[in-house]
Amino acid sequence: MRGIFITIEGPDGAGKTSVVKRLETLLKNELGADKVVLTREPGGIPIAEEIRKVILDPKNVEMDERTEALLYAAARRQHLVERIIPALNEGKVILCDRFVDSSLAYQGAGRKIGMEPVLSINEFATEGLLPDLTLYLDVDSDTGLERIRRGRSADELDRLDQESAVFHQRVQHGYIKLAENDPERIVTINARKDLNTVVSESLKAIKERFF
Ligand SMILES: Nc1ncnc2c1ncn2[C@@H]1O[C@H](COP(=O)(O)OP(=O)(O)OP(=O)(O)O)[C@@H](O)[C@H]1O
Ligand SMILES: [Mg+2]
Repeated sequence: MRGIFITIEGPDGAGKTSVVKRLETLLKNELGADKVVLTREPGGIPIAEEIRKVILDPKNVEMDERTEALLYAAARRQHLVERIIPALNEGKVILCDRFVDSSLAYQGAGRKIGMEPVLSINEFATEGLLPDLTLYLDVDSDTGLERIRRGRSADELDRLDQESAVFHQRVQHGYIKLAENDPERIVTINARKDLNTVVSESLKAIKERFF
């Protein structure tokens, strides 16, 4: 029995973590607590956590952008093998906060490596496994970054949070392009709306697709 693999994507501060937590509660109420798994990369998988620390450490200023992309793909691989594939095999509904599209948007578009080379290393990492459904929370970078900065002090911002406004604009445009190119898999949700509306539109998209 194969489960359902749903990812949630979007720029910094789009509301991914807030939305996915609410979806977890709502889906557990409907389907049963043991049927739904919430995870995020690197998902508490020790090997992936170690890799992620290296990526996000603000002192790693000399990190090459392809090194960054490879490290994300490596962390993703480990989380996929240890967490996502076993849950899929148990027939669970998996909600995953970020996945391959994040690398395509951040490293492909944001870092300007290009979508194609980033896709190819990620296909190696995932053996081509894609989500059944991706909710893309679309928000302009000003709104997203403002939400993040309101909640955190400057020394709590990680190496990618500290990137320039144009970097974050390229990330958003990367996501928009991905959603345009794969409308079957990626549903765009207007995340400038209030949280309740974003959650209910996300739930509607899941139900329309699967239930
Ligand atoms: N629709 C919304 N309207 C207003 N504020 C929101 C909305 N969604 C989330 N927020 C607030 O914005 C901040 C960032 O939200 P959240 O952490 O869920 O975003 P995220 O997409 O997970 O960010 P990151 O990319 O940093 O993980 C939080 O303070 C949250 O309460
Ligand atoms: Mg988050």
